[in-house]
Amino acid sequence: MTGSIARVQGPRRILEVGPGTGPFTKAILKKLRAGDQFDLVEINRNFCTKLERDLLAPYRIRHPNVAVRLHCSPIENAELHGPYDTIVCGLPFNNFPPQLMRQIFRRMFALLKEDGELMYFEYAGVRVLKGPVLDRAGRDRLKRIDAIGKSLRRKHNGEKEFILGNFPPAIAYRLSGKARAKPARRVATATR
Ligand SMILES: C[S@@+](CC[C@H](N)C(=O)[O-])C[C@H]1O[C@@H](n2cnc3c(N)ncnc32)[C@H](O)[C@@H]1O
Repeated sequence: MTGSIARVQGPRRILEVGPGTGPFTKAILKKLRAGDQFDLVEINRNFCTKLERDLLAPYRIRHPNVAVRLHCSPIENAELHGPYDTIVCGLPFNNFPPQLMRQIFRRMFALLKEDGELMYFEYAGVRVLKGPVLDRAGRDRLKRIDAIGKSLRRKHNGEKEFILGNFPPAIAYRLSGKARAKPARRVATATR
């Protein structure tokens, strides 16, 4: 999830969305260098307090040349100024309304450089496992989430990697900031 940070030379701009208690944050902090900027956006106040106290404040003292900012707010309307080289997103989209998932990806791509990369993940087989315990509306919602993910991966040159060593096993997705050009529509020509 954090590997693509190393791909960028020079000062980097990195955004983490939904850090929670900070498992990805810890890995990102280890990779930062002087001149980098690292923004985090987390909706939950308790997680913000914990992240700031346990990870970010001590890091800033030891690394005054790295700009680390926590925005305690939803990504949808956080005051963020792109573009970023890398976005690492830990949001659990399989629990989200499809419309919100679309809105969040639109925001993240608006903040990502064209040659930047966006990483997100889901637990392997989560939709198959959840399906039988959901009602029809819940299953329809999961189908739409699945369709949105597939369409994003088609459009943004998506790559996936199975992380079998994780418990539970997960799939990490990498999307490119540049969207593929839409294939030209064939125009039917009238023949007499
Ligand atoms: C499943 S946790 C992921 C935490 C961590 N990355 C991990 O792998 O353990 C998702 C986090 O996203 C946060 N979150 C949910 N919706 C959000 C939103 N719209 N904007 C920012 N953060 C959000 C939640 O509060 C939660 O801390």
